[in-house]
Amino acid sequence: MASVRYENITKSFGEVSVIKGVDLEIKDGEFVVFVGPSGCGKSTLLRMLAGLEDASGGDLYIGENKVNDVPAKNRNIAMVFQNYALYPHMTVAENMGFGLKLRGKTKAEREKAVKKAAGILGIEDLLDRQPRALSGGQRQRVAMGRAIVRNPDVFLMDEPLSNLDAKLRTQMRVEIRKLQHRVGTTTIYVTHDQVEAMTLADRIAVLDGGYVQQFGTPNELYHNPANKFVAGFLGSPAINFIRCKLTGKDQLQLPDGQTISIPAERIKTAADGEDIEIGIRPEYIDVIEKLQKPESGTVIWQAPVSLAESLGSETLVYTHIGDHNITVKVTGNKNYSEDQNVILSFNIDRAHLFSTRDGRLLS
Ligand SMILES: Nc1ncnc2c1ncn2[C@@H]1O[C@H](COP(=O)(O)OP(=O)(O)O)[C@@H](O)[C@H]1O
Ligand SMILES: [Mg+2]
Repeated sequence: MASVRYENITKSFGEVSVIKGVDLEIKDGEFVVFVGPSGCGKSTLLRMLAGLEDASGGDLYIGENKVNDVPAKNRNIAMVFQNYALYPHMTVAENMGFGLKLRGKTKAEREKAVKKAAGILGIEDLLDRQPRALSGGQRQRVAMGRAIVRNPDVFLMDEPLSNLDAKLRTQMRVEIRKLQHRVGTTTIYVTHDQVEAMTLADRIAVLDGGYVQQFGTPNELYHNPANKFVAGFLGSPAINFIRCKLTGKDQLQLPDGQTISIPAERIKTAADGEDIEIGIRPEYIDVIEKLQKPESGTVIWQAPVSLAESLGSETLVYTHIGDHNITVKVTGNKNYSEDQNVILSFNIDRAHLFSTRDGRLLS
């Protein structure tokens, strides 16, 4: 087991700069997820650590060892890909033991390691089968098994569940989390799926534009996003952004013209008259019965319903204020008809305030 450190890592492909300066310190035994939109450089960051790609600049450490110039085969890491790449002519046991064979381990050593990993994964009865006789989920387990037998310092997983159907993906997600708890190996997991990131990670690194936008626990990122990008990337349905104007020192003008006073310490870093975007999550907006005079700090809106989706335990209500679409999540099975008006209420304390100019969180 080992910690991992990215120090001012950059990466360009020809003229194109993909990673522009990444610093990350991953603790020994931690489960870290790299998440971000497709093409933001998640796989590239992982491949540099694996030694499959050179960094253009900066230093990479596994434990206390700088590994920039260490060949891939000498970095004690194991990688699991989206495409499991099992050898079709080998049995499960042979597939799992193959990496050890390449490293000169004896037959007895290999058998012992394979048996132990198979026990952890619950695939002992599949050891003599060939990959074509396995389901997708079973193949996935074998690919994990092949990584486990190596007893690596770090597991690297690049979208390992993307080929599975939704139900199996959820099931395997739980298994991967339990497995990592059990073996305790430092793990870096790449995904574009924010739900996987939220559920698997001890800490999440959100990547965009060649930089780490924020690195923290799922709760920190969800409740205290550092900028508009992070707020918008995590959460489903997505957070609502509403453009407002700062009028006077502590008055926020909403799109429908109503103003609300805002504690001055929340907007110290905003310029006078600066356009502000507030971010309010769908679950923090209530649908209330009667139009009422808002208490201080509360926004009340009457809004037409464009669609309501009942998911059984909760209902998503899609509304709009002017040209702002607003999604509201209410618990329970509620009936709303299209073009009915609902009265929305939220407290400005629940909203995040972002600069429209650069998306940074105002404070
Ligand atoms: N070998 C390569 N040559 C040129 N461009 C590459 C290469 N590998 C990746 N890229 C580019 O780098 C960017 C990041 O790729 P990648 O790390 O695979 O993104 P992600 O895994 O986040 O989807 C993409 O724009 C991709 O096209
Ligand atoms: Mg990728």
